[in-house]
Amino acid sequence: MIDVFVSGIKKKKTLRSLPDDFVKVFVSDFFEKNPKIEKVLAEHPKPLKSKEFDILLKEARRRLHEVYGVFVLGRKDLKKLKEHLKVVKELDEEALQLHLEILKLHKSSAERLDFYPEVYEKIFSITGRPKTVLDLACGLNPLSFPWMGLEKVRYFAYELTKEDCRFIKEYFGMMGPFGLDGEAFDADLLRVRKFPEVDVCFLFKALDTLEDLERNYSEKLLKKIHAKFVVVSFPTMSIGGRNPIRQRGWFFRMMRKLGYSADTFELENEIFCIIRK
Ligand SMILES: C[S@@+](CC[C@H](N)C(=O)[O-])C[C@H]1O[C@@H](n2cnc3c(N)ncnc32)[C@H](O)[C@@H]1O
Repeated sequence: MIDVFVSGIKKKKTLRSLPDDFVKVFVSDFFEKNPKIEKVLAEHPKPLKSKEFDILLKEARRRLHEVYGVFVLGRKDLKKLKEHLKVVKELDEEALQLHLEILKLHKSSAERLDFYPEVYEKIFSITGRPKTVLDLACGLNPLSFPWMGLEKVRYFAYELTKEDCRFIKEYFGMMGPFGLDGEAFDADLLRVRKFPEVDVCFLFKALDTLEDLERNYSEKLLKKIHAKFVVVSFPTMSIGGRNPIRQRGWFFRMMRKLGYSADTFELENEIFCIIRK
């Protein structure tokens, strides 16, 4: 029965590009919390036309906004960057400016726009320059490549929606001549069984959202990642930017439990923990 609702939800334009698995888990959770609605829908002759289905849809939209939409600040487009690179064939000032314009469209990358060179300098001073990178729940972070100072890198990016991955794939397609050899995967990170083995994995501002979707998932995820280093970051301010966020005791307790050690540093409103695995 769940499949009927998954395809019903995915008929909606704003929810269409979500992975099926993600919607399936959402519907099961919803039914677990709302058994009466599940019963009505199961017995309804046209469930997708019922007001109970509208409640389910509304909740799906709310959830999607919480884990995804809240970070999207505008419509992204690679046209200008593509045309520019085709002509100049180098990452000149204008190309960097065009990258920044795009990075500004995702809340997380927008917040570290002025610090990207410092972020990577600090990370790579500990990890060494990676030849392979895994970027989980990447947002638009792969577009910060010009500030990584890497001549050549194999880059694996994971994001939730097909639409975002198409964008990242298109970007990777343009960046081959500049040393970025990337692949993008649309996936619900809660359902991925195996990731490519890499030198460094970025988990920037991702664990809070994943913990929200499934408590204690961070531990399972960290165990699944085969990387020499995992760089986890957290925002130090709330989404509105006003309230400082409490210490993440759960994270440091988990680290102790797993026996991982980490170097940490803080820049502006973000704390970075570099875990040696
Ligand atoms: C706070 S943003 C961080 C983006 C990026 N890592 C950065 O720091 O620039 C969290 C990202 O996680 C993605 N996300 C949320 N739930 C996810 C899931 N279940 N699987 C994969 N990605 C997810 C969202 O789409 C969003 O882009």
